[in-house]
Amino acid sequence: PATPPLPDLKALVRTVPDFPASGILFRDVTTLMADGAGLAGAIDALADLAAGLHVDAVAGIEARGFIFGAALAQKLGTGFVPLRKAGKLPVPTMGEDYALEYGEARLELDPAIIRTGHSVLLVDDLLATGGTALAGAQLLRRAGAQCTHAMFVIDLPDLGGMAALHEQGIEGRAVMA
Ligand code: PRP
Ligand code: ADE
Repeated sequence: PATPPLPDLKALVRTVPDFPASGILFRDVTTLMADGAGLAGAIDALADLAAGLHVDAVAGIEARGFIFGAALAQKLGTGFVPLRKAGKLPVPTMGEDYALEYGEARLELDPAIIRTGHSVLLVDDLLATGGTALAGAQLLRRAGAQCTHAMFVIDLPDLGGMAALHEQGIEGRAVMA
């Protein structure tokens, strides 16, 4: 039987100018997620990027990092750790404030779900300045995890996120740039 053609993942990402602020070219991954072959292709590609790594758990960043991170965790056979936006977790949290391409935000983690020394793979849909991913990695490390690798569906290389991650000892990998 003929195998279906691989989807053009890049073509499935919609670009919206001037969202959420003037001058920002917003890479909207919801169009890729809504396509069955696109979603499966992106998850498969993330799993390929993780091949050979020792991963005890996958952490995803709210909101779009939850979708890819949870699917990757299921594929790798690990649990999933949510890094949540401020005020959502019902227990005492650790928090990190950070700046991103178009604003400021705060991520929070329940440290009780982290096992000391476990290798946690960080996942998000998109890497821009790296502010969000670095805040996530910092939280995981403060809670006692090792965080040495981060994976993204999209990298915006002009914004320098990969270099910012590298400076903190994190190897970033992306499905597309
Ligand atoms: C987007 C994206 C990343 C972050 C990347 O999330 O999903 O998390 O920006 O930007 P940075 O590398 O410059 O930090 P956003 O904050 O828009 O939140 P959302 O997923 O809740 O929509
Ligand atoms: N997060 C930060 N910058 C972004 C962009 N240009 N598109 C989508 N998400 C982003």
